[in-house]
Amino acid sequence: MTELGKKKIIIAIDGYSSCGKSTVAKEIAKQLGYIFIDSGAMYRAITLDCLRAGRVTNGIVDLAGLQEHLDQIRINFIFNPATLHNDICLNGENVELEIRQLEVAQNVSQVAAIGVVRRFLVAQQQEMGKSKGIVMDGRDIGTVVFPKAELKIFMTADPRIRAQRRYDEMVAKNEAVDFEEILSNITARDRFDENREESPLRRAEDAILLDNSHLTREEQFSWILEKVEEKVKNSCP
Ligand code: DC
Repeated sequence: MTELGKKKIIIAIDGYSSCGKSTVAKEIAKQLGYIFIDSGAMYRAITLDCLRAGRVTNGIVDLAGLQEHLDQIRINFIFNPATLHNDICLNGENVELEIRQLEVAQNVSQVAAIGVVRRFLVAQQQEMGKSKGIVMDGRDIGTVVFPKAELKIFMTADPRIRAQRRYDEMVAKNEAVDFEEILSNITARDRFDENREESPLRRAEDAILLDNSHLTREEQFSWILEKVEEKVKNSCP
């Protein structure tokens, strides 16, 4: 752990989809010895639960059924020694891979727009940040979950560059993909996240903008670590 890691703060990273928020957040948490929480994974886990229970079809959620069942859904993270990261568990089952499936991605925006779901997860996210020393990424972390976070970063990048990165990743995995389809999915998700009624994606007034269109990962890490250093120096002991 670095010297910086000894004085714990909360780091909130929000921004548009496919900006590389989780990659950056994970690496920053590792360097500081902080906990990393991917809040999007929590919305994905609830979506997976809905899909398995037949409570969501083609983006239409059975709200009454979900509401009744919500307090029986247990979400937690466990350390995976193989990847050195925390995997998400749904009712005790490791679902880190399942939540990345296309069907989950296609329905998660609708589930994440439901107020009761957001309140249920925000309460758990706030509990995780009680002892500070946490990096959490999402869409409402600096505005709703930790409005008093010491460091807030809002990430963005040119949509075509984000689509190109996602395209390259999928091609590397031998997946058949179409660039224009990826681009339209990214812009549609941005519009949905920005325009929903419940906790829309917004840059908090005190968030620092990070446009990573033309930055390497290393450049982004050192930029953020510089900001952490400034915040740690200026925050109360
Ligand atoms: O970051 P991601 O793509 O895994 O997020 C999945 C979905 O959850 C996406 O539609 C945005 C939503 N989300 C949210 O509304 N609030 C968060 N704090 C994190 C994710």
